[in-house]
Amino acid sequence: MSAALRPCWHAVAYGGNVGAEPVAVTLLGEALVLWRDGEGALRCFRDRCVHRGTALSLGRVENGQLVCPYHGWRFEGGGRCVHIPQLEDPTRVPPKACVEAFRAVERYGLVWVALEAPRWPLPEVAEFSDPAWHIVRTGPFAWNANASRMLENFTDFGHFPWVHPGLLGDPTKPVIAPYTVETDGAVLRYAYGRPDQKNTESLPVFAAEERKSELRRTRYVIHLPYTLVEHIDWGAADAMVYLFVVQPVADAQAIGYCLVARNYHHEQDASVMQDFEATIFEQDRRIVESQRPVVAPFDPHAEMHLKFDAVALAYRRAMRAHGLG
Ligand code: FES
Ligand code: CO
Repeated sequence: MSAALRPCWHAVAYGGNVGAEPVAVTLLGEALVLWRDGEGALRCFRDRCVHRGTALSLGRVENGQLVCPYHGWRFEGGGRCVHIPQLEDPTRVPPKACVEAFRAVERYGLVWVALEAPRWPLPEVAEFSDPAWHIVRTGPFAWNANASRMLENFTDFGHFPWVHPGLLGDPTKPVIAPYTVETDGAVLRYAYGRPDQKNTESLPVFAAEERKSELRRTRYVIHLPYTLVEHIDWGAADAMVYLFVVQPVADAQAIGYCLVARNYHHEQDASVMQDFEATIFEQDRRIVESQRPVVAPFDPHAEMHLKFDAVALAYRRAMRAHGLG
């Protein structure tokens, strides 16, 4: 996978899924281990012990240190080995007994890791730090697909009536009105209003009472390479914000984290939104897993584009301009 993806923040887990035990994840083909130190802060190492290459994710956390399952060597949060039980004096550890540690932070309920000094900061999403908005975490959705295809699918207006009829789109209204994409370095912005799809009885996830328009007004911001923020409203107070981040696991493997913040429906059980997104993502999965080439072609002359593909084209151009595709 492109070396230019290493100095970027990537989501690798929901923070709530990393507890007292170490957790194995894969990012850009690299096996990593996530764990929490004595202060509860997230740590990320290469998942390979410096002694015999054992997966540290099979070990355990003790006294704020990660303990290898094979011979019990102990590592502090920075990756330095601080205890080798087989030594006369277990604390006289040779200085080269270190594992590689990577930057890891927790924000918006996600664990973000960068394998090298990140080129761009994490996106700011004000609603996700505002108690007036309640957040539902859906998925994660693990697909046998490339992260670029998974991200593009989330931006694709044209497929709603075909893949999600009745849930996100109306098959009698397939035409997409023109819209423009503004590219600002590694950030893309565009907006679109489309005829709204009504709530279904079993999955009432959209605003129903507080709305002025039958148009679903959406504003999108894409942060290269694989983060998308979508604001939705209906011309009144009720609004929702999607934070969608794709973890590039390997060339043909990706995991999507879809977080939904709403300033309404706070009484609704999180499972309603989770079931809704599970349905939508499953409808998309078989389509996206079938796409070839596996990685979206970043040359604008590859594949055919219509006007409604403006965002995919802009995304591919920007990815290519930054050496990411
Ligand atoms: Fe980790 Fe020996 S392999 S301590
Ligand atoms: Co879809």
